[in-house]
Amino acid sequence: MAVLVTGGAGYIGSHTCVQLLEAGYDVVVLDNLSNSKQEALDRVNSISGKRFEFIKGDILDIDLLDRVFTDYTIDSVIHFAGLKAVGESVAKPLLYYHNNVAGSITLFEAMQKHNVKNIVFSSSATVYGISDRMPIGEDAALGPINPYGRTKYMIEEILRDIYASDNGWNVILLRYFNPVGAHPSGLIGEDPNGIPNNLMPYISQVAVGKLKDVNIFGDDYPTPDGTGIRDYIHVMDLADGHLKALEKLKDSPGAVVYNLGTGKGTSVFEMIDAFYRASGREIPYRVTSRRPGDAAECYADPSKAAKELGWAARRGIFEMCRDSWNWQSQNPEGYTE
Ligand code: NAD
Ligand code: UD1
Repeated sequence: MAVLVTGGAGYIGSHTCVQLLEAGYDVVVLDNLSNSKQEALDRVNSISGKRFEFIKGDILDIDLLDRVFTDYTIDSVIHFAGLKAVGESVAKPLLYYHNNVAGSITLFEAMQKHNVKNIVFSSSATVYGISDRMPIGEDAALGPINPYGRTKYMIEEILRDIYASDNGWNVILLRYFNPVGAHPSGLIGEDPNGIPNNLMPYISQVAVGKLKDVNIFGDDYPTPDGTGIRDYIHVMDLADGHLKALEKLKDSPGAVVYNLGTGKGTSVFEMIDAFYRASGREIPYRVTSRRPGDAAECYADPSKAAKELGWAARRGIFEMCRDSWNWQSQNPEGYTE
């Protein structure tokens, strides 16, 4: 019995594959490498010392999915595959709805056809939109504010409807807060294309000298130091959350949703300071205007995952910065195959 990991060559997928392999799972990765490199998977193999199957292909390819579910004995799917850049989703909504929503429907149809009814899906805190209730619990109102967020919301709804139609399914929706950090080996990590959109990869590229200074998107928010507050979570903790979710699937939980966050908020200034302490590198910055669509603060109530999955984030901001720096300094150009 194997776990099919769609998008397994990506940032979160590659870290989860390491943890799955080390825990003894058989793994089949399906990834079209549209936002990742084969080298990440070669490194997953070196870290874990375990072999696994890799199929280069698309979740939109129904014939390929048919072959994958026929050729391998798959009992559950972790579905990471998707496009994730908010700005790009505003510029190219159809690309996002096609790849993420139509791609997911194609995958779910293949699962249904082959009687594979266990799935863990990568959702995002972005489905809450701008919430005024902090910390955010899973029962908070949903209201994504961009096409990317709406693809996550739609896929959640589709999975809830599939479960409602057939209680034989088990669906775990994981809403990630802000994943950062890297495997402690420094062999795998986040490798954004071009100039990073997100804070942590931007800071680490400034630290390594690839970018000049960090643009702080506003210091006039109603927060203690005026900069935005987020719930950063170490990607290794996130990966462990997926293993807990896979175990939970065995209890036939139905369709359930969990926040994966630490419950602690960190400001942009605090993050820059922590990165300086972890790397010893000066991080020049300048304050610019707010980024449209940004909330002042966003952090999780992670108590449901603690209670029902037996999962809690263990790694703090210092480890997140240390491991991001370890990856960035060892791989200044990312994967270079
Ligand atoms: P990533 O881009 O590194 O990984 C996604 C992987 O999916 C890539 O390897 C890409 O090549 C692959 N992919 C994309 N479309 C595909 C398709 N049609 N067929 C096959 N493979 C395809 O992103 P990530 O940061 O690892 O995120 C993984 C998942 O978690 C995504 O669904 C993302 O939306 C979600 N998520 C990410 C974050 C974050 O900040 N990184 C936060 C919340 C949710
Ligand atoms: C962003 C996405 C969100 C996605 C999340 C996952 C937007 C509007 N939102 O969230 O949908 O789920 O990534 O990773 O893109 N910041 C700076 N300078 C920078 C970059 C960021 O000051 O160069 C600030 C932001 O204003 C924010 C914080 O740093 O306060 C974190 O930003 P970022 O890493 O982009 O994450 P989110 O905005 O939370």
